[in-house]
Amino acid sequence: MCGIIAVTGGDEVLDVILDGLARLEYRGYDSAGLALTTVRDDATVVDSDLEGVAPVTLWRARAADGTRSLDHLAKQAEGASRPVRAGIGHTRWATHGRPSEGNAHPHLDCTGRIAVVHNGIIENHAELAAELTGAGHRLRSETDTEVVVHLVEAALAAGAPGLAAAVRAALARVRGAFALAVLAVDEPDLVVAARRVSPLVVGMTSSSAFLASDIPALLGRTDRFYVLDDDQLAELRPGSLVVTTLDGDPVEPVATTVEWDLDAARKDGFDDFMSKEIHEQPTAVANTLLDRVHADGHLVLDELRVGHDVLAGIDKVFVVACGSSYHAGLMAKYAMEHWARLPVEIDIASEFRYRDPVVDEGTLVVGVSQSGETVDTLQALREAKRKGARVLVVCNVVDASMTREADAVLYTRAGPEIGVAATKTHLAQITALLLLALTLAQVRGTLEDADVRLLLGDLHALPDKVGLAVDRGDDVLAVAEQVRDASAFLFLGRHVGYPVALEGALKLKELSYLRAEGFPAGELKHGPIALVEPGTVVLGVATRTGLWEKMMANVAEVRSRGATIVLVANDGDEETAGLADAVLWVPATHPLLSPVVDVVPFQLFAYALARLHGYDVDRPRNLAKVVTVE
Ligand code: F6R
Repeated sequence: MCGIIAVTGGDEVLDVILDGLARLEYRGYDSAGLALTTVRDDATVVDSDLEGVAPVTLWRARAADGTRSLDHLAKQAEGASRPVRAGIGHTRWATHGRPSEGNAHPHLDCTGRIAVVHNGIIENHAELAAELTGAGHRLRSETDTEVVVHLVEAALAAGAPGLAAAVRAALARVRGAFALAVLAVDEPDLVVAARRVSPLVVGMTSSSAFLASDIPALLGRTDRFYVLDDDQLAELRPGSLVVTTLDGDPVEPVATTVEWDLDAARKDGFDDFMSKEIHEQPTAVANTLLDRVHADGHLVLDELRVGHDVLAGIDKVFVVACGSSYHAGLMAKYAMEHWARLPVEIDIASEFRYRDPVVDEGTLVVGVSQSGETVDTLQALREAKRKGARVLVVCNVVDASMTREADAVLYTRAGPEIGVAATKTHLAQITALLLLALTLAQVRGTLEDADVRLLLGDLHALPDKVGLAVDRGDDVLAVAEQVRDASAFLFLGRHVGYPVALEGALKLKELSYLRAEGFPAGELKHGPIALVEPGTVVLGVATRTGLWEKMMANVAEVRSRGATIVLVANDGDEETAGLADAVLWVPATHPLLSPVVDVVPFQLFAYALARLHGYDVDRPRNLAKVVTVE
């Protein structure tokens, strides 16, 4: 996840920026950069216009060496002239455009007099870039961000009375999410900041002003913090803060008290990264949906790198993945088959490789991997390519090995996940695969436009529903407390509930080291029911997804054998609640989208049980975040 730091005033601008960037490192980044307004101390002024005026310059440095980027920046910064008046810095986690120095922030306008750093996604960047290029601007990066700085340049050229007014005019043209900071030579002590969706916090002292995308970057510098709200713009000068709405109405900033130490602040006040990441799931889903639906209701996955003609010519889909990513594939298989009327096979990557699968030029092989490095999946995709298949990768890391080798990529935009167990990347994967399923249906003409529009509405309602499910952690904890001494857990589901059950069992195994198995509920009497005895905890997905009655018949079978029944049920469904010892409530959604919401209480349940048993949820034993061995 990208990070922003900015400061104006004081003697230590550069140190604050470099130290702030280092404190943002924990968010994950692939490249970094900074820009400073500096007063040249090395030249006598010869330009008569500038006589008597300190010649201010805008100085920029960028590095794209992964986690070594900050060292390289610090080295380059030794060459910046002094004194430094103000600065903006950025750690980048690539979304639009691969990680490279050219794509690292800050981005400059054509004249090199304005610099911008940005977190978020500019949805209409392609149309703005075309317009700006047509008007003579030279855009140099592959990012969505760069359009902003050229829009600011254009607004100033059109007569905007100062940087703040120009930023306001630029943002009026922009759709999407942003937290940004802008610096310009002509007002060297001013940092203009603005936000929509992506967070920004301001810190003030009597002689300086600071800005950052999160509080850890500023801890110890001040204890006067102001959190900017959506659609607000802030003008920061040494010792002064002016906040307005993006429309220009004045806002009285209200100070926030922060009592966190650095570790707590990095976790945003959560006890651990897993809990923070579970709470980031609504944003992960929303970001994965962002800018992928055009105004006319059509889905265009621009970054896919293969044309719609290719997708329309596919006659079979094969999904390969491991662990939670495999479950995401399984969850989306139902929608792909139903909407796009394509046969969808799914296989564990380590099995696929060695079984001579039948794939050819007409097969779309979809690799799902949060890291993009899992060797089993990577090798499976290579095997598929050798056999002539088209390979598409759903991945959370830009420029990972899988994405470099694939014919097409669909990025999830969950931001870096630090907890070892997948949570927000998993929900983002399901969302991305559902988008792919809809796109396949659209290009193949297997769904009416009106149906696609309705489904898109349901997809866009998911972040709020996920948010409601996430906020029920205390209720889930109460259920976990009831069964904390149990040693055997059976997760059951049918249809899309089946992979949800598999993921629930995997999460519990990973985090709590407890015996947990997931089964399709209909398979119960063909063997697994022998495991059920008094004391067994059965967790069932009993949301109203079409097979509810059959699911409840299976629940009755285990109930009559003495199991303790915990059911995931839709809000208000008292009939289901009446058949359970405990209920994990979730909001209802479209059945084929329901895994995105229904899996959340199982994540919370595994988390709660692990905590009750005193385990480290961020670093479960024996597990690694990136699995590069077979
Ligand atoms: C489970 C988990 C693992 C991964 C699996 C694949 O919480 O994180 O099961 O899903 O190792 O990893 P990626 O998605 O990186 O290929």
